[in-house]
Amino acid sequence: MKAKHGAVLLLLAMAAGCGGGEGAPAQTGGEEAGEAATAEMAMLIEAPTGAVNAELAGQGESLFQAKGCVGCHTVGGGRLTGPDLDGIAERREFGWVMAMVQRPDSMLQNDEVAKELLAEYMTPMVNMGVTQEEALAIYEYLRQ
Ligand code: HEC
Repeated sequence: MKAKHGAVLLLLAMAAGCGGGEGAPAQTGGEEAGEAATAEMAMLIEAPTGAVNAELAGQGESLFQAKGCVGCHTVGGGRLTGPDLDGIAERREFGWVMAMVQRPDSMLQNDEVAKELLAEYMTPMVNMGVTQEEALAIYEYLRQ
């Protein structure tokens, strides 16, 4: 379990390394780049299954507060500015959640489900600058 997570994180670190490099700022087609990035995310990272990694979930819980998610979301406490995220891992695809957490701006422009949510909630979720590692930890927290 530990070893497996280590491998995934290494992969994430590598992916983040290329993505944040010289390629990104040079791109002009913002929407297409966003779409490619979100598709890439979904392919690169394996959805975590089985027992929740408690240590990672703990980090995720701290990040959920530190990154300001708590300002708009509860987990089981009802709707605020954004949806209650309780049971999100059952209701959405892993890759979709990862993309929404990292690139809500691009998702709200390109993804049909995200667009529907925006129509319902009337407030665009803000890009909080969450890295892949952080998003994975937050996902682990939301999955438990
Ligand atoms: C400014 C308020 C705000 C903040 C801060 C915010 N969100 Fe959101 N979030 C929303 C809203 C509103 C939606 C619904 C889509 C929309 O209208 O943009 C949403 C949608 C989502 C969804 C999809 C929910 C579903 O039912 O499918 C996830 C997952 C999510 N947010 C996670 C996060 C995480 C994790 C953070 C912190 C890194 C965060 N959000 C920060 C407002 C926010």
